[in-house]
Amino acid sequence: MIESIHDRTAFIRANTALLPSPLVPEVRLHLATEAVPLWQLTEEALQEKGLPPPFWAFAWAGGQALARYILDNPEVVQGKRVVDFAAGSGLVAVAAAIAGAQSVLAVDVDPFSLAATELNATANKVVVTTRGDDIVGQPLPDTDVLLAGDICYEQPLAGRVEHWFRTLVAAGTPVIMGDPGRTYRPSGGMRRLAHYAVPTTRELEDNDVRSTDVWLFETDQQASAAVEAATEADA
Ligand SMILES: C[S@@+](CC[C@H](N)C(=O)[O-])C[C@H]1O[C@@H](n2cnc3c(N)ncnc32)[C@H](O)[C@@H]1O
Repeated sequence: MIESIHDRTAFIRANTALLPSPLVPEVRLHLATEAVPLWQLTEEALQEKGLPPPFWAFAWAGGQALARYILDNPEVVQGKRVVDFAAGSGLVAVAAAIAGAQSVLAVDVDPFSLAATELNATANKVVVTTRGDDIVGQPLPDTDVLLAGDICYEQPLAGRVEHWFRTLVAAGTPVIMGDPGRTYRPSGGMRRLAHYAVPTTRELEDNDVRSTDVWLFETDQQASAAVEAATEADA
């Protein structure tokens, strides 16, 4: 039975392989080689059924694109206090630390994610701190930029998060999200920063490559100015 962070760390070490993430080979992660057996093993180890999939054991397309963008545009995080929201494996957090962030906090409600993120930070020789409570809706006073990879895969989370992100942006904290066109992605109020073709696995996705965007959430004023500019260009 898994009860402590040490148990989770040992479980991750025993059931994953340290591999480069496909679009971000400079970051190595403890990744699952097969999804379903690991999911079953997690349920057995926790003696619980109906658990969410082991998100922490995969480099999701949104996270890979965002990590690639951060490493290719380090000024986005350099010298800044960064939050990686819904960190999963911690890929984006590790990329931000490698790119020169002043500090990186990885947040995820899954305790396995926190253990995986700590292991992955150590494997990449960077420092990332972790936090496991649900911070959606809370102010983030000590944050210069919030990053989020692949969070629009289910409605309740995507809806809560969009509202929260807009509040943070209005209060002056930039929010950047990587998303491979998931169903619950916001339909507007964002500016595309980059686009990538991200290698994925058929175990998770319906394709070997996912077309993935990196988005900057805009303030209401920026969004209306963009609509006006587009209307003028069309006229
Ligand atoms: C699809 S994974 C993405 C992981 C990572 N960002 C990536 O792109 O590889 C979604 C993650 O959201 C986390 N999550 C779900 N609800 C959350 C919440 N309320 N607060 C923080 N993390 C949450 C899950 O535990 C999971 O690790």
